[in-house]
Amino acid sequence: MSARILHVIGSPRGERSRSVKVAERLIGGLVAASPDVVVVTLDLGAAALPALTGPVIEGRYALIEGREVADEVRDAWERIGAAVAHFLSFGTVVFSVPMWNFGIPWQLKQYIDTITQPGMAFRVSEAGVEGLGAGKRAILVASGALDIRPDSPGAELDHQVRYMQAWLGFIGITDVHVVHLRPTYGPPEAVETAMAEAYASAEALVADLSRAPRV
Ligand SMILES: Cc1cc2nc3c(=O)[nH]c(=O)nc-3n(C[C@H](O)[C@H](O)[C@H](O)COP(=O)(O)O)c2cc1C
Repeated sequence: MSARILHVIGSPRGERSRSVKVAERLIGGLVAASPDVVVVTLDLGAAALPALTGPVIEGRYALIEGREVADEVRDAWERIGAAVAHFLSFGTVVFSVPMWNFGIPWQLKQYIDTITQPGMAFRVSEAGVEGLGAGKRAILVASGALDIRPDSPGAELDHQVRYMQAWLGFIGITDVHVVHLRPTYGPPEAVETAMAEAYASAEALVADLSRAPRV
């Protein structure tokens, strides 16, 4: 089977999104290195995810306790199960992820809350939590207005990249790469430098990954 890449778009800014521009360049590089790869885009601004209402959440607790979900939320749980299966069907997931108020956009958080389900994305046993995404690769293209990259003043405000790394680890994905895109606000030359550095970092990552046996 061909390698499969999912591009999860967490910015609702469409063609104006800087993180999407860099992610698309990165994905283009992965495709050039491995032309039979299949790329699917999931634009969360346009995705219709089931609402996690009270009754739907009761279904989650039912699953945790090994029970069936109630009839009234069966459809919602089928859609949730399909969303998890779709996510898990990719070997590589690229996230375009802007920082919003030090965390991630709510559309991306809703997606994460939708797919992080017991028995689907993770399993709990006496041995502890087992992430069912093990063996996959994630690439984060992380944008932000402020220059608070790791080791910079203000880096402790990062609940974007560190949150994504924590969540990915929870579902078993530990092969995580980050392309930082900061600052995207300020004097035009500073923003252009940030874009150029992010493109260069994306290209270096592609070169690095293309030396490995799979994308
Ligand atoms: C609602 C909202 C909240 C934001 N909060 C932050 C923030 O806390 N820190 C930051 O550095 N940038 C923040 N920004 C700026 C974006 O992260 C920045 O413009 C980024 O480049 C957007 O990426 P995109 O073009 O891919 O959407 C925020 C933007 C919006 C719309």
